[in-house]
Amino acid sequence: MTAPVVLLLSGVNLDRLGTRQPEVYGTATLDDHVATARAAAEVHGLALEHFHSNAEHRLVEAIHGATGRCAAIVINPGAFTHYAWSLHDALAAFAGPIIELHLSNPAAREEWRRVSVVAPVATGTIAGFGGDGYRLAVDAVATLLGR
Ligand code: DQA
Repeated sequence: MTAPVVLLLSGVNLDRLGTRQPEVYGTATLDDHVATARAAAEVHGLALEHFHSNAEHRLVEAIHGATGRCAAIVINPGAFTHYAWSLHDALAAFAGPIIELHLSNPAAREEWRRVSVVAPVATGTIAGFGGDGYRLAVDAVATLLGR
């Protein structure tokens, strides 16, 4: 039987992880986080697919493409979290579990980060655990998929 696919989406500026504000986001790169998520997925018999873009519309298209093909979505939208209603609408049309993921805890930061337009259409949010969040998000997906 083929493994259910978990789509991990990375939004704007996450390609700069490793050197970008390490005091906030740590020194691990996006590739490191993807490797963490992939290892967790393998433990649960899930396949992990990753897509990064700095362009909002490309993430929207990736979400469209997940319908009927992916069992769940884990998304760290970066700053798109706080204003990209197109991501909200695209995710609202996805049938499976959706985990909103952040390295930092936006609720404990600047006022403008306390709004998430993704949260209302997410099954749940994992934030503030740094790179461990990538494993926790995949573990949450596995639980939600009954694995
Ligand atoms: C982030 C939090 C966002 O507020 C910020 O714009 C990011 C990263 C995080 O993972 O902590 O780019 O999503």
